Amino acid sequence: MGALSIRQVRKAYHSVEILKGIDLEVDAGEFLILVGPSGCGKSTLLAMIAGLDHPTLGSIHIGDHDVTHALPKDRDIAMVFQSYALYPNMTVAENIGFALEMRKVPKAEREAAIARVAKMLQIEHLLERKPAALSGGQRQRVAMGRALARNPKLFLFDEPLSNLDAKLRVEMRAEIKLLHQRTRTTTVYVTHDQVEAMTLGDRIAVMKDGQVQQFGTPDDIYSRPANRFVAEFIGSPAMNFIECSREGIDQLQAHGVRLSLTPAHRQSLQSFSGHALVYGLRPEALRFADQGLPGELWMVEPTGPETYALVDTPLGRLTVRVPGQVHQRIGERVHLDWSAEQCHLFDGMTQQRIA
Ligand SMILES: Nc1ncnc2c1ncn2[C@@H]1O[C@H](COP(=O)(O)OP(=O)(O)OP(=O)(O)O)[C@@H](O)[C@H]1O
Ligand SMILES: [Mg+2]
Repeated sequence: MGALSIRQVRKAYHSVEILKGIDLEVDAGEFLILVGPSGCGKSTLLAMIAGLDHPTLGSIHIGDHDVTHALPKDRDIAMVFQSYALYPNMTVAENIGFALEMRKVPKAEREAAIARVAKMLQIEHLLERKPAALSGGQRQRVAMGRALARNPKLFLFDEPLSNLDAKLRVEMRAEIKLLHQRTRTTTVYVTHDQVEAMTLGDRIAVMKDGQVQQFGTPDDIYSRPANRFVAEFIGSPAMNFIECSREGIDQLQAHGVRLSLTPAHRQSLQSFSGHALVYGLRPEALRFADQGLPGELWMVEPTGPETYALVDTPLGRLTVRVPGQVHQRIGERVHLDWSAEQCHLFDGMTQQRIA
């Protein structure tokens, strides 16, 4: 029995189906990420896990309890949401200790818990302040502290870092990871930020239109995306996609260019009956070379440690990720090369991964 089982969960509002049969098994101590574009149903699913709403069909189990219709207070969960409402009339310490007080935890124990999380989150100097006198990032920490003061079976986070500036986001992300490594509390974390998904998740469920497209480790998702949607959604800059067609049984071409394949790809093509395919290359799979695919450098986007170069080629505009700087100039003729091992193949009709 996993720590959290979501079985065939469906949710409809006014006959519009928002969740279309979600199955997820989360192990004890695991950090699960729900990621996907806006409106795909992440918060809806989290609300079902929290008990703020109930599925139309299907069931949810926490440990060996069926909680499908249980009240939030009977689920032993702690939540941090994007709009973290703190109690404005309570101090930071009172906010953090409130849930414990409601549970009639003795004062000494409560104070110890407040001190422990305040230290963890480095907000000890803020304990006597009211929320109005805190910055956004500090409020975020207090909201986190309120959840952490308890020792729940399950932590639920819904985009908890989305209101923070870029630097603080990165800091808090590391802190959340550290906290999880210490406490090993099973966690479900919603985000639409793929870097957060990759850096925090033990496993990631990529969602689209109320369905899970792929459920796997960050490495599975990045190295073996199940379909073109996942391949495009995870990874920045996004994967390059080249629509191509089959020549004979095991060759691919696009716009007169033969696309390189490995023996393993050719093997997979033997059992594939379609004609249209998509050949995917991540920007880091491409490199500038003395020969190879000809093109013209169209734009250069330096980021500091690496540069994204956009190159117009007979196969379309391709993004190349280069360590350091690009020495070629805009408009210059260049050549691109890659190793066939790094390509991803998708069925041009179903968009599902072939190899
Ligand atoms: N109470 C409701 N009544 C009707 N439709 C709803 C309700 N709650 C959510 N929806 C719809 O369900 C869909 C999924 O919403 P949800 O909030 O789960 O998306 P999300 O993946 O969390 O998106 P975001 O990243 O923008 O937060 C949306 O189309 C939304 O309009
Ligand atoms: Mg949401």
